This record gives sequence, structure tokens and C-alpha cells, in this order.
Amino acid sequence: MSNKALERIRRKERITEKRDKMLKNDFSAKRATIEEVFDNATFMVIYKLLKKGVLDELNGVVNAGKESRVYWGKDPDDKDVAVKIYLTSSAEFKKGMVKYIQGDYRFKSVKRDTRSLVFTWAQKEFRNLEQAYRAKVNVPKPIVIKKNVLVMEFIGKNGIKAPLLKHVIPEDPDKLYNTILDSIKRLYQVADLVHGDLSEYNIMIWNDKPVLFDMSQSVPSNHPLAEFMLRRDLQNINKFFKRHCVEVCPVNDAFKKVVERNT
Ligand SMILES: Nc1ncnc2c1ncn2[C@@H]1O[C@H](COP(=O)(O)OP(=O)(O)OP(=O)(O)O)[C@@H](O)[C@H]1O
Ligand SMILES: [Mg+2]
Repeated sequence: MSNKALERIRRKERITEKRDKMLKNDFSAKRATIEEVFDNATFMVIYKLLKKGVLDELNGVVNAGKESRVYWGKDPDDKDVAVKIYLTSSAEFKKGMVKYIQGDYRFKSVKRDTRSLVFTWAQKEFRNLEQAYRAKVNVPKPIVIKKNVLVMEFIGKNGIKAPLLKHVIPEDPDKLYNTILDSIKRLYQVADLVHGDLSEYNIMIWNDKPVLFDMSQSVPSNHPLAEFMLRRDLQNINKFFKRHCVEVCPVNDAFKKVVERNT
């Protein structure tokens, strides 16, 4: 190997070492606050994502729920990302989630301890977002999943999340209603998925368009609960738009429109 090549490798190693050191120092400063929420394993996952250059910064909390925290972060190109961290301590998971994992052909053998279930749950949200995104349904673009940490496109700007449909007064409610029905149909027919927890709380409005999110419970169309979940989604959406004086499509008809081909 030439001296020049050797020097190049050494320089690269020095830079990597320096970066690791900086990361460690910088990150341990924030560790005190972060530790309140994260266990050591989660901390290590985030550390690895920072080291790998998937993430460049992890900033404030966008939302603190019972089962997950959503953070605003930056990627190395300074682009906003959302980092959803599923809390592995949440015992609630075990009760509610199994029925959506069972019967999903994509997740056949799953360990039943809480940690493994949470990892599967996070993985499931990632896969669902991927299928939806590929089918051109308006959802946050999934970027990376590692254990209980999901990195995705940030919907909003400068750390300010986009408003939920619940908090928006639609300018043209009829049009918005139809756009959402079209998304449900595309999700079903092209991505082969039923959202399963759709309501004004799981739709954001960004650039005047609805963005569907929170898809960990979403199931393939052949799942035993798919029909029940789809009807419930349509009911929720109808209920919301009725309040905005839209003449909604009755659930049975809307259901047919979503599932029937060539309509
Ligand atoms: N990609 C994103 N970009 C911006 N904000 C987001 C993104 N994903 C989620 N959020 C915000 O974080 C909140 C919680 O996200 P999500 O619904 O996926 O998690 P959850 O565990 O179901 O929480 P909750 O129980 O509060 O619904 C959302 O209401 C939304 O305001
Ligand atoms: Mg939610």
C-alpha cells in the first residue's frame, strides 16, 4: 500500500475517533434528561443511530404518549425527522396489541415477552408505513427502524408538528372528506392495508393535504379483524365530517366503494 493511501486511512480513522469522542461528550450532557425516559438499551440504539449518521440531532419532545414518545430530530443534511420511541416498559402493550399481530401473515413467529412484542409493534408500524408510502398514500416517509426506535419524515416545520385534523377547520370539507376516502381506498387496494385507528386524531393536515399516520395497529386486508376495523375507520371519519355539515356516504356504501375493484 502506498504511503499516501496509508495516510488517507489514518486520517479517516482519526476523524472517526474524534467524532465518536464528540458524540459521547455531547450526548452524555443530554443524557441526564434523556435517561428519565429511556432505558439503557434504548439509549444505545439512539447512540448507534447518531454514530451511523442516520441521525444528527435529537431535540425536543413533540408528543409524550403512554406507549411512545415522538421527538423532533435532524438528519445529517439538516432535514427534520420525527423519531418515535416505543416505551419498552409499557405493560399496556401486552394486553391490546397481540390481537393485531396474530393473524398478520407478515409476523408469524413472535416471542411473547413485552420487549419482543414492542419491537414487533415498532417493526409493524415501519412495514405499514413502507407499504403505504410505496402505494403513494400520503403518510410520513419511513426512514429507519431499529428495535423500538422508528425514524421517519417530520410532518411540520422547524420542530413544530403539523396540526391534527381535529384542530383544523377545513376550508372545503367536502373535498377533504373525499380525499380521505380516496386515501383509505388506495391504502386498501394498492397497499393491501386497513389503517384500523383512523380518526381526526391520526390525520395531520399539511400543505392543505391529509397525512395519515400512527399505523402500528394497521393490518393486511385478509386479517380476521380487517373488515371490522375498516368499518370503524369509516364510521369515525363520517362522524367527524358530519359535524362539518358534509353529506357523508353511508358506511355500508363507503365500505363497498373501498373494497370493490374498478369503482
Ligand atoms: N412524522 C411525524 N411528524 C410530526 N409529528 C408527528 C409525526 N408522527 C407523530 N407525530 C406527532 O406525535 C403524536 C403522537 O404520534 P402517534 O399517534 O404516532 O403515537 P401514539 O403512541 O399513538 O400517541 P397517542 O397515544 O398520543 O396517539 C401525533 O399526534 C403527532 O402530533
Ligand atoms: Mg396516535
